[in-house]
Amino acid sequence: MPRKKITIVGAGNVGATAAHWAAAKELGDIVLVDIVEGVPQGKALDLREAGPVELFDANIVGTNRYEDTADSDLVIITAGIARKPGMSRDDLQKTNAEIVKTVAEQAVKFSPNAVFIVVSNPLDVMAYVTLKVTGLPHERVVGMAGILDTARYRTFIAMELGISVEDIQALVLGGHGDDMVPLVSYTTISGVPLSHFLSKEKIDALVQRTRDGGIEIVNYLKTGSAYYAPSAAAIQMAEAILKDKKRLLPCSAYLQGEFGLTDLYCGVPVILGENGVERIVEVPLTEEEHKALQLSAEHVRANIAKLAL
Ligand code: APR
Repeated sequence: MPRKKITIVGAGNVGATAAHWAAAKELGDIVLVDIVEGVPQGKALDLREAGPVELFDANIVGTNRYEDTADSDLVIITAGIARKPGMSRDDLQKTNAEIVKTVAEQAVKFSPNAVFIVVSNPLDVMAYVTLKVTGLPHERVVGMAGILDTARYRTFIAMELGISVEDIQALVLGGHGDDMVPLVSYTTISGVPLSHFLSKEKIDALVQRTRDGGIEIVNYLKTGSAYYAPSAAAIQMAEAILKDKKRLLPCSAYLQGEFGLTDLYCGVPVILGENGVERIVEVPLTEEEHKALQLSAEHVRANIAKLAL
């Protein structure tokens, strides 16, 4: 079987770390693209030289030319600016919409059959931009956010309870912003509801910390935003797609009536396989969760309305 080809656009913190996870998992050959000359070339070669130590085989190249990305199976877009303290993800919109528009147009020219995973923020809006400028079928453009938000939530629960992260199942839906929707009703420790372990007050505090999970890191780093967990989350999606695993994961998907939402991207449970978003799983929500999801989606819709595409 020929190796899969993965293009990662943006060789910054998220892009380069995504390349690292993908290489370590031997998901395929990797092309790292950036607008800055030398950086993708240097990082790609450096990562490739880790192969003999970590025992992975992959052609990893860095480039500034989209010709080198031709016939990729998967394109991961991480290009753009990251947050600094005091900034919301929405503050990135104007700049990143321009960047994502340019890179998506270029990438799709050379890889019209690829699935696109969008990571640049504000995520749900950037996924929408990618869908519109590429003209791809909506199931082949998907945003990374829910896995990251869920991973943060699972981490905080594990830290609180002293229980393995492996045994914590949860779903965080909604837009990738301060009004994301952690679903407490679907949070279990190996099937045992979270409410068996923690009081409502404690759970509320963990939910709030999850919502603030991104800015907590930004405030520590000061010069940029999180990248280990975001890139790991993107590569979990990449693996599900490249290996056609049909995993059920929370991702930002284009909605056409599901959950009562139309013509926008928002975090929902999906089945991810070789065709991208193969199905949206409309799980029942409590009235409170349903309302919170609508509110979060309205926020995304308002930002989409500000786009000049
Ligand atoms: N084409 C290609 N690469 C670009 C372009 C462009 N037009 N514009 C910017 N880039 C590159 C930058 O040169 C830089 O290497 O995108 C990279 C961004 O890297 P970082 O500044 O390290 O940002 P990072 O932490 O990786 O975050 C990237 O992902 O999680 C989101 O909110 C985050 O929007 C941000 C994005």
